[in-house]
Amino acid sequence: VAEVSVNLGVNSYTIHIGSGIIASIGQLMCKMELTNKVLIVSDDNVSKLYGDYVVNLLSQAGFTVELFSVAPGEDSKSMRVAMELYTRAIEMGLDRSSSIVALGGGVVGDLAGFVAATYLRGLSFVQIPTTLLAQVDSSVGGKVAVNHELGKNLIGAFYQPRLVVIDIDMLNTLPDRELYAGLSETIKYGIIADQTLFNYFIDNHQQILVKEPVVLTEIIRRCCEIKAQVVERDERESCVRMMLNFGHTIAHAIEASTGFSLYNHGEAVAIGMYGAALLSYQLGLCKKNVVDDISMIIEKFKLPLFAPECKVDTLLPYLERDKKTVGGKTKWVLVSSVGQVKINSDVPENIIRHILEQVTHKQKA
Ligand code: NAD
Ligand code: GLY
Repeated sequence: VAEVSVNLGVNSYTIHIGSGIIASIGQLMCKMELTNKVLIVSDDNVSKLYGDYVVNLLSQAGFTVELFSVAPGEDSKSMRVAMELYTRAIEMGLDRSSSIVALGGGVVGDLAGFVAATYLRGLSFVQIPTTLLAQVDSSVGGKVAVNHELGKNLIGAFYQPRLVVIDIDMLNTLPDRELYAGLSETIKYGIIADQTLFNYFIDNHQQILVKEPVVLTEIIRRCCEIKAQVVERDERESCVRMMLNFGHTIAHAIEASTGFSLYNHGEAVAIGMYGAALLSYQLGLCKKNVVDDISMIIEKFKLPLFAPECKVDTLLPYLERDKKTVGGKTKWVLVSSVGQVKINSDVPENIIRHILEQVTHKQKA
């Protein structure tokens, strides 16, 4: 069992990580003085696997519990589904001393967190992330949101959970493709902040792929620790939190231009990280071996480097529309060496075009 503290003054909380740790959810919530009623939000895949178990655990701990399960997938991260949740919350009489628990991946976490942040101007929120991506990224740091038909995550808030409980055993039922997607975000933490973690991935990649519990706990712990440190320095993303977007500029363009269906987020981030590494090398910021190390680890974790279905001219407008664009300039997170990144908002278009040509052609530079 491992614990990571997120120190944000009155909004501080602890992330508990371990095998089978979900069994303690009742005690952990009682210890936080969360009592009264609980609305668990999940999706149909996850609630079938773990819904009854978590409902029973909380009922046995004395809570009045209801489970609301949404359809799996990004479409559930909507105002329409949030409205259904508000209705259920009103019907079951949730008040400011009640809690909303997210049991699922990033879709459920973002949706439930958005409802927790806004219903009655905010009630206690608990995250039980069940995908690797949610365990190392979306459940930590307090970004909650729903989508608008004109763009992803456009309606949201910064709203920290009171508690995060990460049970690595839940990853045993996760489809492989979702596991690899989560690994993409873990690689990102190594590249942006920790060469030792990056080397740990190389040395332990076989154990990681077979979900060896000790190794998995260690990488999740370290990724949460890195994310916590970044969020503690810059909760509202005015400066250093931007480094978490390494690989995400090209990734967002790939996802949006292919209708969010061809590549999942982690796959798009893998291609985006390779693109960002190539760009860093092209700008003279890093040595060639940095690009080679990054592409090697991406391939080891069964993730793609190229998006041959995408066209440069289709991707370019999406880069300009990226949320992180300020004053018409795209802010690029670039790598100088593994563990060290820099922000650059002055990259000439011809260089970006050249990089996009490389990641859309299935051939290594
Ligand atoms: P997801 O929530 O859609 O889950 C992926 C799939 O795995 C779903 O079909 C789900 O039902 C299934 N699943 C989840 N846990 C399972 C388990 N233990 N066993 C079997 N199946 C399981 O996807 P995701 O990748 O977790 O999250 C993506 C979302 O997260 C996006 O909406 C993205 O915008 C958001 N996100 C938010 C942040 C943040 O900081 N808030 C960060 C990154 C991503
Ligand atoms: N996933 C990016 C962030 O939390 O800032």
